[in-house]
Amino acid sequence: MPLGFAHHHLLGIRQLSRQDIERIFEQAEHFLPYCRSAMYRLPDLRGRTVVLAFFEPSTRTRVSFELAARRLSADVVSFQAAGSSLAKGESLLDTLETLESMGVDAVVVRHRDSGVVWFLQRFLRCSIINAGDGQHEHPTQALLDGFTLWKRFGSLEGLRVCIIGDILHSRVARSNIELLSRFGAEVGICGPGTLIPQQAEQSWKVRRFFVLEDALQWAQAVIVLRLQRERMESGLIPSLQEYHRFYGLTRERLARAPHLCLLHPGPTNYGVELTREVAASPQSLIRQQVHYGVAIRMAVLKLVVGDRIAR
Ligand code: NCD
Repeated sequence: MPLGFAHHHLLGIRQLSRQDIERIFEQAEHFLPYCRSAMYRLPDLRGRTVVLAFFEPSTRTRVSFELAARRLSADVVSFQAAGSSLAKGESLLDTLETLESMGVDAVVVRHRDSGVVWFLQRFLRCSIINAGDGQHEHPTQALLDGFTLWKRFGSLEGLRVCIIGDILHSRVARSNIELLSRFGAEVGICGPGTLIPQQAEQSWKVRRFFVLEDALQWAQAVIVLRLQRERMESGLIPSLQEYHRFYGLTRERLARAPHLCLLHPGPTNYGVELTREVAASPQSLIRQQVHYGVAIRMAVLKLVVGDRIAR
């Protein structure tokens, strides 16, 4: 068994060692039989209170954190930003300090500002778990993506994974590049020039693909991303149809890469980055990802919050 888990927060993949990530995968593997049904409630978080504080929309991440916390017997409170005192001018920090004073052990935060969880951890004593900060990091998504690939391929070492689409605005891409590189996977990126950060190849040590077909031939797995139009300031692509023509994953394209498997963090926009048929094809691991997401978040909550000595 690897060494204990020494983190009081989960802010980003950057802070985790390869051993930490393996520890999370092993713990998630252990939780898999328990995560599908409310029949089983494990005692790991009994007596702990977890607040979900989502300041950006979310379906999968919020619900799977909630299920994960409940499966571990935690008390879960969903903070609703709309209708809270934020509307009266209260700051984010005041809001979270107020929640902490009510005896909260952990707060799961999603916010549009990159770096917000690093700011909060300077002031809060409870554990902070990053559920997505702006364009920056989304560690539990990368952990569940890595876990899905690990389960499928047995190892991430040397695995060729290409991330396709809006890399520029994607916290999922950043966290995944960090995690995959940690395991010695080969990472590719493919998308229109306007949606790839400058210097991406040098700073991330990734391989850049200009033509989707080349990426699909090279990769063993692809992570397809949504266009984050809510983060785009101006038209970075001519039209959705044109994007689909060059970068959309279709049945025909997938048929020419029969060994490829595909992931997508969701939500999907059919007819843009991929088609419904592709999402439902046997090569798609999208449903697996969602399933594994609960086990990964159980593992994170147990290791960060459950095993923590009260401060
Ligand atoms: C992603 C996110 O919010 O960053 N979704 C998710 O957490 N499942 C990706 C996206 O919104 O496109």
